Amino acid sequence: MDLSARLEELQQVERFPPPDGFREQAVVRDAGVYEEAARDRHAWWERQAERLDWFERWDTVLDDSNPPFFRWFTGGRLNVSHNCVDRHVEAGRGDKVAFHWHGEEGEERDVTYADLHRDVQRFANALKALGVERGDVVGIFLPMIPEVVVAMLACTRIGAVHNVVFGGFSATSCAERMEVSAAKVLICPDGSRRKGKTAPVKQQVDAVAGDIGESLERIVVVRNVGDDTPMQEGRDVWWHEAVDAADPECPPEPLDAEAPMFILYSSGSTAKPKGILHTTGGYLTQVAWTHQWVFDLKPDEDVYWCSADVGWVTGHSYIVYGPLANGVTSVMYEGAPDYPDKDVWWALCERYGVTIFYTAPTAIRACIKWGEEYPARHDLSKLRLLGSVGEPINPKAWLWYHEVIGGGRCPIVDTWWQTETGAIMVSPLPGLTETKPGSCTIPLPGIEAKILDESTGEEKDDGQGLLVLTQPWPAMLRTLYGDDERFVETYFKRFGPETYLVGDAARKDGDGYLWVIGRIDDVINVSGHRLSTAEVESAIVSHPNVAEAAVVGRHDEDTGQAIVAFVTLREDGDDMERAIRDHVAERIGKLARPKRIIWSDDLPKTRSGKIMRRLLRDIAEGRELGDVTTLRDPDVMEQLKSKVAERQSEE
Ligand code: WT7
Repeated sequence: MDLSARLEELQQVERFPPPDGFREQAVVRDAGVYEEAARDRHAWWERQAERLDWFERWDTVLDDSNPPFFRWFTGGRLNVSHNCVDRHVEAGRGDKVAFHWHGEEGEERDVTYADLHRDVQRFANALKALGVERGDVVGIFLPMIPEVVVAMLACTRIGAVHNVVFGGFSATSCAERMEVSAAKVLICPDGSRRKGKTAPVKQQVDAVAGDIGESLERIVVVRNVGDDTPMQEGRDVWWHEAVDAADPECPPEPLDAEAPMFILYSSGSTAKPKGILHTTGGYLTQVAWTHQWVFDLKPDEDVYWCSADVGWVTGHSYIVYGPLANGVTSVMYEGAPDYPDKDVWWALCERYGVTIFYTAPTAIRACIKWGEEYPARHDLSKLRLLGSVGEPINPKAWLWYHEVIGGGRCPIVDTWWQTETGAIMVSPLPGLTETKPGSCTIPLPGIEAKILDESTGEEKDDGQGLLVLTQPWPAMLRTLYGDDERFVETYFKRFGPETYLVGDAARKDGDGYLWVIGRIDDVINVSGHRLSTAEVESAIVSHPNVAEAAVVGRHDEDTGQAIVAFVTLREDGDDMERAIRDHVAERIGKLARPKRIIWSDDLPKTRSGKIMRRLLRDIAEGRELGDVTTLRDPDVMEQLKSKVAERQSEE
């Protein structure tokens, strides 16, 4: 039977129970876990925390005396790098490979747990020698190379707080994030590689380092591409020199369970990114637990691969901390999915015998477009479980993933969570949960999610509304760095300090399964990357020729959503479309470049001058226009509509 006929046939199958052979061998087989967790949440989370090695046991599981500022496992002391590295070495597993690292040009480096143990201690001492102390912020702006993992773990070893910036962001964006978090040290490469080309990262960082402000004392440079790199005396140091000079032994600091662990900036409703703060004990507990349960992990048998970048929370939790806490062997890949060819992912799955593969719907849609011949070139028979994250997965992509990559035998875990939640919250347990393509199914044991009516705030048993989380969870963000007020305002103002407002709309079906629809705020999800319309707007408006801009998201077959910008120019110039796209790439990063720019003499505004994004969204999506009576100048809409129609006929 050909593939499309098979997919059509599968489409009729609405539910996929765990395959028999899978169910019997699964890590979790007892459906009683949900009730057990609900009966006594504290005992439940306490049991999960016992997975870790604690230097001192906690006295309180959950301190909820000052909601929404919840504190977990207070009184406990532990160290993340000890849990991710030392304890495996101490148990005699030092020779086990932590990462099969694979470079873009085919280079390979196997990094064992013993290697990490050696490198993390040395780099931790190097950081100390540079003046980094407990609680200091260390910026990490590195590509997917083993040093990024070493740098993160070294921070956790000494109680420094890492602030990783995705390597695809611009140096300007990086500098902004360093400035607002008052980073003391920044770690960057000399340059980075992408599809056979190199880019001079350090030079770009130099150009903006002055904007970071006084907090920044040192820049550590990793020799990655080997290009000539100017070093500033007294400020810059080479990674390899700092490591060579460092003492080999650095005992892990016993840190408070609530010691700040990392900040990760993510987009919100305003142009200012949110510094999401995670702490030590609760984060590692939930990440280690979910990584084992959701991925049915058998650390001695599995080879695990998450294709994300460490610069996103998925990489933090499910490339670095979860897999290392569980002592599994992972694949880490530096490059793009289509370089040197479009089969590179599948070649790596075959080469390393990957058993568990975790990626994003946008990547799956790209693979569908490229064609089944690429996966067909490789033996994928070792795969036994597939995961999806980042945005709702459309049933067509789900079925293709299931059939073409999973050979029809692998359960798919569609995992819903956020930078803020730190770890997976809603997902099937693959040995227990019947899946439905497109639904992330039900909350994990210990997690409680509800749908509230948008206008009344009442709980809905089925139907659509606002997704909220009604019980605190260990890996939850503790605050927005340096901005408690915005933290409360963003997540807890609407329904009070016990009810976390997710920012997603979702639907619950008759079986209690959740179907996430998308964001309710001005956040756009492009290829699973979260961007704020306000941030993109302010980047566009900072171009000297631009008078005004409004940005909206529209549905896109490949990237989930795409950015459409409506721009009014102050003054025309040469190839303005390109100029603006380049400008946005420089300010934020290539991923934020608008896919479509629509020039307009004016934007639809209310009488009080507010831009009506709702109408722009309707235009961008080609929908019938909603109510335009509140507009100051209804003619603006007619003009815009014809402009968009013009653009579409050019495509
Ligand atoms: C937003 C969070 C989770 C790590 C990567 C993104 C959307 C995430 C799913 C899913 C439907 C999803 C939500 C969420 N999202 N996973 N499985 N199904 N939507 O983290 O950048 O913080 O974005 O991504 O809209 O709120 P993030």
